[in-house]
Amino acid sequence: MANSSLGREMTFYVTTPIYYVNAAPHLGHAYTIIAADVMARHHRQRGEQVFFLTGTDEHGEPVADAAHALGIEPQQLADRNAERFKALAPRLDATNDFFIRTTDPQHEAVVKDVLSRVRENGYVYEGTYEGWYCPRCADFKAENEIDEGNRCPIHHIELTREQEDNYFFKLSAFQERLEALYAEREDFVSPRTRYNEALSFIRSGLRDVPLTRHKLTWGVQVPWDHEHVFYVWFDALLNYYSALSYAGERDLTATFWPANYHLIGKDILRFHTVYWPALLMAAELELPEHVFVHGFLLMDGEKMSKSLGNVLDPFAVIDRYGPDALRFYLLRDVPFGQDGSVSTASFELRYESELANELGNLASRTIAMVHRYRDGVPAAVALDPQLDGDFAGLAQAVEGMIDRAELTAALDAIWQRVRRLNRYVEESAPWQLAKDDARADELDRVLSTLVAGLGVLALLLHPYMPSATDKLLSALGCEERSLAGARWDSTHTLGRPIGTLESLFPKSA
Ligand code: MSP
Repeated sequence: MANSSLGREMTFYVTTPIYYVNAAPHLGHAYTIIAADVMARHHRQRGEQVFFLTGTDEHGEPVADAAHALGIEPQQLADRNAERFKALAPRLDATNDFFIRTTDPQHEAVVKDVLSRVRENGYVYEGTYEGWYCPRCADFKAENEIDEGNRCPIHHIELTREQEDNYFFKLSAFQERLEALYAEREDFVSPRTRYNEALSFIRSGLRDVPLTRHKLTWGVQVPWDHEHVFYVWFDALLNYYSALSYAGERDLTATFWPANYHLIGKDILRFHTVYWPALLMAAELELPEHVFVHGFLLMDGEKMSKSLGNVLDPFAVIDRYGPDALRFYLLRDVPFGQDGSVSTASFELRYESELANELGNLASRTIAMVHRYRDGVPAAVALDPQLDGDFAGLAQAVEGMIDRAELTAALDAIWQRVRRLNRYVEESAPWQLAKDDARADELDRVLSTLVAGLGVLALLLHPYMPSATDKLLSALGCEERSLAGARWDSTHTLGRPIGTLESLFPKSA
C-alpha cells in the first residue's frame, strides 16, 4: 500500500492513541491495540516493513490532578502506570515495535524543536484565553460543546472557567488548506460519518487554540518562555512523529513517515482530524494517509462503566480463554468503526458457537479424517472447482478491506468461508465416500480441498488469532505465514504429511 513513492520498499506505519497514565488500562485501550496489531501483522504477512507504535501520554492536567489526589509526584504516577500499559500489549499478543512515553527526553526535544519551527513560521502569537475547560479531557470547549449546567458532555463534570495568558496556535490560518485537504482526499478520515463530522467542524469556522499553558508546570517547557509548558495535546500528537527518530538504532523517520494509519476513538476526533493536520502543515511536515475513527465499546449502555453487572474484564477473558478469543470477539461482535455493546454473555456465545463449533470442529474433523482415511497425507490433487467461487480472490478481497481498515468486514468475509467449508463437509460426506473404493479419487479431492481451504483460512485469520492459527498451520504442515500462501491456487499444504492438533478452542476453557 502507501509509501510506495520514490521506489521505496513497501512500508506500513500504524499507531494507536497514547494512553493517559492517570488510570489503569481497560478494555477500550486494549481495543485499539488489538486492531492496530491485526493491521500490523497483516502487512507483515504481505512482506512489508512495518512499524507499529503505541505508548503513554504522561503530561497535562489529567495526570497532574490524579497524582495530586494520591499525594505523589506526577512522574511517580507516570512511572507506575506506564509500566501497566507497557505490559498490556504483550498480554494481548500485540507486536508493537516501540512503546513511547511522552516523558522520554528524546520526545520532549522533538516537541520543542517542531513547535519552535511552528512559531518561526509565524503561526504562534501571545494572547489571553477565556472560556470553558474540562480538566479531564484537557480540552477547551467551544460554546456548542457544552452540556446543560456548564458540564462536559463526555465526563459530565462541571467545566471550569479559565482565563489565562497563553501562546496561541493560529489554527484559523489553516481553514482553506484543511478544506482543500478534505476535498482532495476523501479517504483522509474514515468511516464516512467521521469524515463528515470533521469537515463540518472545519466548515463551522476554525478558531485559534491555546498552544501553551501558563498555570501548569507538568509538561514540556516552552523553550522561548520558561513560564509556560506546551498544551498537552500538541505534545501528545507529536509522539507519532518523534518516536521514529529514536525508536530504532537509526532514525526511522525517512523510512516510515508519514503514518499510513492513525487509529483513534471517536472522542479524540477533532484533535486528530483538524489540529493534527494543521500542526503538521504549520511545521511543514507530511500529513498522514488515513485517520480511522473507531466507536466505543459499550457496557451497560455506557462508554465504560464500573457499575456492577455484565462487565467484560479483558484480563479475566485472557486468563481463561487466551488473547486470541478476545481479539476475535472484539473485532467480530462490534463492527469496527461503530459503537457496540460487549458482554460476557455475548463473548461466551461467540466462543462456543463460532470458535469452538465452527472453526475448532472444522479443523479437528478435517485433520482426523486425513489421518483416518489417508494415513495423514492429503493427496496432491486438483481442488474441487465447486469452491472456486468462494475461495478464488478471497485473499485479495481481504487485503482490500484491511487496506481500508474494515477489520470486521474482512473477518466476516473469512468467516463466511469457514461456514462454507463446514457445509462442504456435510454435503460431500467423506465418511460415505470412504466406504466405496471406487470413489477414492473423489475422497482425495474432498480431503485435499478441505486441507487447502483450511490453510487459506488459517493464513487469513493469522493476524486476528496468531496463536491458534499458528497451531493449526503447524498441524497442517504449513511453514508458510506469508499471504502468498493464501492464494487458492497455492497447494503447498498438499502431498505431505500433516500433524495432529489439540483442541483449538476447548469448550471447558
Ligand atoms: N491521551 C489521549 C490521547 C492522545 S493521542 C495523541 C487520550 N487518552 S485516553 O487514555 O483517555 O484514551 C485513549 C483512547 O481510548 C481514546 O481513543 C478513546 O477513544 C479510547 N477509549 C477509551 N474508552 C473507550 C471505550 N469504552 N471504547 C473504545 N475506546 C475507548 O484520550
